[in-house]
Amino acid sequence: MKVFVTKAIPEVGINLMKEAGIEVTVHVDDRPLHSEEMIAVCQQYDAMMSVGFNKIDAHFLERCRHLKVISLFAVGYDNVDIPMATQLKIPVGNTPDVLSRATADTAFLLMLAVSRKAFYNYRKILDGKWKGFEPVADLGIELYGKTLGIFGLGKIGFEMAQKCKAAYGMNIIYHNRNRNLHAEEVLEARYVSYDELLAESDVLSLHANLSESNKEIFNKGAFAKMKPTAIFINTARGALHNEADLKEALEKGLIWGAGLDVTNPEPMDPSNPLLMMPNVCILPHIGSATQETRDGMAIMAAKNVIAGLKGEKLPTIVNP
Ligand code: DGY
Repeated sequence: MKVFVTKAIPEVGINLMKEAGIEVTVHVDDRPLHSEEMIAVCQQYDAMMSVGFNKIDAHFLERCRHLKVISLFAVGYDNVDIPMATQLKIPVGNTPDVLSRATADTAFLLMLAVSRKAFYNYRKILDGKWKGFEPVADLGIELYGKTLGIFGLGKIGFEMAQKCKAAYGMNIIYHNRNRNLHAEEVLEARYVSYDELLAESDVLSLHANLSESNKEIFNKGAFAKMKPTAIFINTARGALHNEADLKEALEKGLIWGAGLDVTNPEPMDPSNPLLMMPNVCILPHIGSATQETRDGMAIMAAKNVIAGLKGEKLPTIVNP
């Protein structure tokens, strides 16, 4: 049995698959394969481990319907046509839970960095603009006792809420498809409507999966309903917000600041003006990028490949 891995992953995952007798090929070229190349390559393998955001749409799936398993090195699966994979009986696995803490850490890091204009102040040093102690210049805002709004209270959102409550005694409100009674009990989180979330959040942090129904849900209309002192954090998917509307909201002072670990498209163009705005901190999609978490993801993704090739149920399966 042979698996094609679309980008290098930690060795621990590769070794696990090899120990199970699987022949592993890793695409190590910096140039990502375009979709027709990916199809041509995957047609020669029994399984695919997708690392990054390969478009696994109906066209790909129809041409690669022989695949015994598609294992995603990610928790998000918005790049995969899951109904079509299910129809073709291709099991798709992902890597949930293991990355929740690291991703929530990144959201927390961005919240704090934005609240103190950290990246902008760092650039001031590099640009030779740090002239000494300045009592009134570039002041930040404090987070103690403020209200954290969570859009999408799953595992990662819960971790973020827990950190913010422990560190700053923040009040937690959330909007989700379903009520999260555990969070309501443990974190005294309050379920609110989408509009209430916008109106009441001092920090609004996104942790939802991307779907057709929430694409660019954070747009002009949404930013207009937020507090002028609010901080917007997105570590989920760049397509949840409309970038031009976000930039305008920041310029007009409709919101105070923004921290992004995800952009649309990725990678972000280095000349994007958002990168130079004082109240904006942007990271290159490093949410889960710790050694421990990436090792954990590699093990989970490898286990999904092994199970799929044995014809067993994947340990972490996405298909309904
Ligand atoms: C995920 O796991 O979905 C991260 O965004 C990395 O792909």
